[in-house]
Amino acid sequence: MNEKSKIQKERASNWKDIKPLRDMINNLPDIHAEIIFGDTFALALSDLTHEDYIKIENTARSLCSWRKGPFQIGTLFIDTEWKSFIKYNILRPHFNLSGKKVADIGCNNGYYLFKMLEDKPKKLTGFDPTPLFWSQFDFINHFAKTDIVYELLGVEDLPNYGEKFDVIFCLGVLYHRSDPIECLKSLKAALEANGVLFLDTFMIDGDENIALCPQKSYSKIQNIYFIPTINTLRSWCEKVGFKNFELLAVKSTDIHEQRKTEWILGQSLEDFLDPDDNSKTIEGYPAPKRAYVKVSL
Ligand SMILES: C[S@@+](CC[C@H](N)C(=O)[O-])C[C@H]1O[C@@H](n2cnc3c(N)ncnc32)[C@H](O)[C@@H]1O
Repeated sequence: MNEKSKIQKERASNWKDIKPLRDMINNLPDIHAEIIFGDTFALALSDLTHEDYIKIENTARSLCSWRKGPFQIGTLFIDTEWKSFIKYNILRPHFNLSGKKVADIGCNNGYYLFKMLEDKPKKLTGFDPTPLFWSQFDFINHFAKTDIVYELLGVEDLPNYGEKFDVIFCLGVLYHRSDPIECLKSLKAALEANGVLFLDTFMIDGDENIALCPQKSYSKIQNIYFIPTINTLRSWCEKVGFKNFELLAVKSTDIHEQRKTEWILGQSLEDFLDPDDNSKTIEGYPAPKRAYVKVSL
């Protein structure tokens, strides 16, 4: 494990809202699990006592909010806010990770990484600086027992990470960065010369080279900086030296994909859109739509 990530994990483990979660994860029963790949990442558990089940459910509920998934652990279904398999299935026809060194930047709880195991990659590494999501990953991985490496680091740490990847996924992160071009440079720095980068970002329609800069929030999300047209996204990629840019798909987010469930605290998409006109966010901006692209050097 990377030294900086190790220090961040040690620090975060003592935070007052994270420590109780780490303690619960450390006290989970040691049970054999079999992975079942599907839209739900499922773990079949054997020899589960009622007491074990209660411990597992209490830990899972304490780890709310669960954004990405869904997961199933034994009979416990974690109905996450996002049906993340919709995004995964859009990208799925465009990659084969067999024998590859793969990184997922902004990997959240590792849902995509767990699914990628099915391809038998050489190595899977996730990067995400949010301790709650790292803890959710460790909860699932306690049973899945994979050798996925989870680094409590951000995209900005990639240039000094000291390892390059054949395939990088950076999904749903670019619009959170105040400097999207710097973010793309960091991704490029971690990509092997013949590597491939998959990106998805909020986008706006139109051919012009412009980007929407939300005044305060976008879809009630505070830290959204730039929402580009596809041409702008292409020019950002070209500026940092990516020569090949392929638009794979465009998809609006709907309440089938993102919605309030019992596994999240607070609101979801239905509260983020204009109740009288679902083509707009509550702030009056175009409703969330994503572009999925594949780029290479
Ligand atoms: C909108 S979610 C996207 C999650 C997932 N990649 C997906 O597409 O479903 C953004 C993720 O980026 C993570 N994140 C926040 N700051 C980051 C940073 N500096 N570098 C990488 N990821 C970051 C968040 O913790 C969160 O998991």
